Amino acid sequence: MWFAQEREIVEAVDLELDRQVEMPSGWRNRIAPSPIVNRTKNRSLVLLSGEGTTVPASEAKALFLAADPRSAFEAPEPRVLMADSEADPLAVGARIAFARRVGYLLRSPSDASGLLTGHRVRFRSFDLSPRRSQPNPDEYLEGVSAVVDLTDPEYELTLVRGRRDYLAVTAPSRMLQGWSHRRPRSRPFFHPSAIFPKLSRALVNMSRCKHGDVFLEPFAGTGSIAIEASLVGADVVAIDLADEMVRGASSNMKHYAQEWLGVVRADSVQLPVRRVHAVATDIPYGRASSTRGRPPQLMLKLLLPELATAMDHGSFLVLMHPRDVFVEPTSEFAIDEEHHLQVHKLLTRTITVLKRR
Ligand SMILES: C[S@@+](CC[C@H](N)C(=O)[O-])C[C@H]1O[C@@H](n2cnc3c(N)ncnc32)[C@H](O)[C@@H]1O
Repeated sequence: MWFAQEREIVEAVDLELDRQVEMPSGWRNRIAPSPIVNRTKNRSLVLLSGEGTTVPASEAKALFLAADPRSAFEAPEPRVLMADSEADPLAVGARIAFARRVGYLLRSPSDASGLLTGHRVRFRSFDLSPRRSQPNPDEYLEGVSAVVDLTDPEYELTLVRGRRDYLAVTAPSRMLQGWSHRRPRSRPFFHPSAIFPKLSRALVNMSRCKHGDVFLEPFAGTGSIAIEASLVGADVVAIDLADEMVRGASSNMKHYAQEWLGVVRADSVQLPVRRVHAVATDIPYGRASSTRGRPPQLMLKLLLPELATAMDHGSFLVLMHPRDVFVEPTSEFAIDEEHHLQVHKLLTRTITVLKRR
């Protein structure tokens, strides 16, 4: 069988940069391609994007753990994560931000036959370091009676060539998520404090928010994080103190969002909601955002006990904040993880993941 192949030498990419451009029509409904799911443990492969931070691996793990708390992981080399989990890797791949591919890891090329027979398929390879030789797709596809479709495949047979080779059945690409259409300047309402959709989605995913959960964004701004939570099927409550932001976030939510309960004008240190399953936010700091004169450290001190009254035990709170704002464990929250992202020379953001005790 002849397979034309697309080959890519994977490079590190800017965290905020989105190279995926076009969003095909109908993308909203294409959350997961018809999966070749089985309900037992799958061995999955994640090809992480190369931001050089700990965020991509954390995001991927959180998605597997949200679906199956007993998921176990192995990281054989920097860009590669393997998961033993009941989670469907194609569903993980459909909502992850910082990964290039997620799929069913194959023990040998012959495993591809059972999964791909009768489906429209394309071969794709990723080299984690530059190599001279081209892989030969026929080697991997011998005996597989799939239909070659380079433009509209249902699945890809993905080869990742790192220190060793990894072969997986994955969904075709991340393009369906339409990141560029939700960039801050593409939205109906823009404000310079807005963060990019991929980073926003990663924060939502790190909160382990599931379809149907009530998700709270206590400092909504333009709604960057709230929009992403709604697109993964959460019922979103977004709060902001400023009228302009409440109106702006509402118009952005109307434009993009699917499931949302409301954008509320309130002070988040006196929350108007209870029974929240997941929270992710970018806490206010600097001149661009109004804070009622409260410095970020004071804001945190007031916010954490208030969030504790609203969040279920065992649920996750993801806070993005400047590195010099310290988040300490409290009697209500344990610190689960801490990640650092250099945004530019003068600004390093920290993402702290807390678990409600
Ligand atoms: C850093 S901005 C959020 C930007 C947002 N992540 C985005 O991408 O658009 C912080 C927001 O918090 C809001 N804010 C500040 N203090 C607040 C409070 N006590 N309660 C609710 N919102 C507050 C500000 O009005 C501002 O819109």
